Amino acid sequence: MSYTVGASSQGGYDQMQLEQTALWENFYSGDTQVFYPSKFAESVLPQLTAGWDILDAGCGNGRDSIFFANNGMNVTAVDRSREAMIHIKTCEPRVHAVCGDILTAPVFAAETYDGIYSRFFIHALTAEQEAVLLERCYTAMRKGGRLFIETRCTEDALCGEGERLSDTEWVLDGHYRRFIVPEQLTARLSALGFVHIHSICAKGFAPFQEDDPVILRITAEK
Ligand SMILES: C[S@@+](CC[C@H](N)C(=O)[O-])C[C@H]1O[C@@H](n2cnc3c(N)ncnc32)[C@H](O)[C@@H]1O
Repeated sequence: MSYTVGASSQGGYDQMQLEQTALWENFYSGDTQVFYPSKFAESVLPQLTAGWDILDAGCGNGRDSIFFANNGMNVTAVDRSREAMIHIKTCEPRVHAVCGDILTAPVFAAETYDGIYSRFFIHALTAEQEAVLLERCYTAMRKGGRLFIETRCTEDALCGEGERLSDTEWVLDGHYRRFIVPEQLTARLSALGFVHIHSICAKGFAPFQEDDPVILRITAEK
């Protein structure tokens, strides 16, 4: 698989999207996925109030959406993997599972959510997609609503590994990743109107098998 035409040309971009979707369908059909809640979700839960409306953007198999629903939240979960969505619908019908591209999914009506949660997803989007998503998130949050993001960042040892698309975009073993520059993301959130923006980069947030990458966590408020 090669992306030498670059993520910025439409043909290369479309090809990349198709291949990324296939990759995740394969992952969610297999037996290496995990179903227990992430450490990030466990750290976010005490900041939520039972009964809140939560959007999980790029929810995967719903490991965290289901965790939030089990703890009293009304959860809408979006992902474009059909396999992942079938799993959520089968296991936890209380989660409103929407299968589709986050950029076109009909889940961003104004002032709908008390919290928007997104784990290991922003780095799967191009910078242009991220800008669209964050603007929609801001609109869709109620005043005082909370945003929770966990993502790969430029301090990750994988940044620089594989095929280079740009200084921050790399494709390794078929995975497109755009390693987030923390200051750029916080500046973007601030420009949108988010306040009380906190960011932290550290190891120990998302260890998986032999890996313990430096991960970026951001919280912000509308
Ligand atoms: C690394 S997984 C994270 C899943 C989940 N949040 C977790 O922490 O386990 C990234 C997810 O993003 C989804 N995805 C990537 N691009 C997407 C897009 N444009 N719209 C919706 N989902 C997308 C993939 O299908 C995949 O499930």
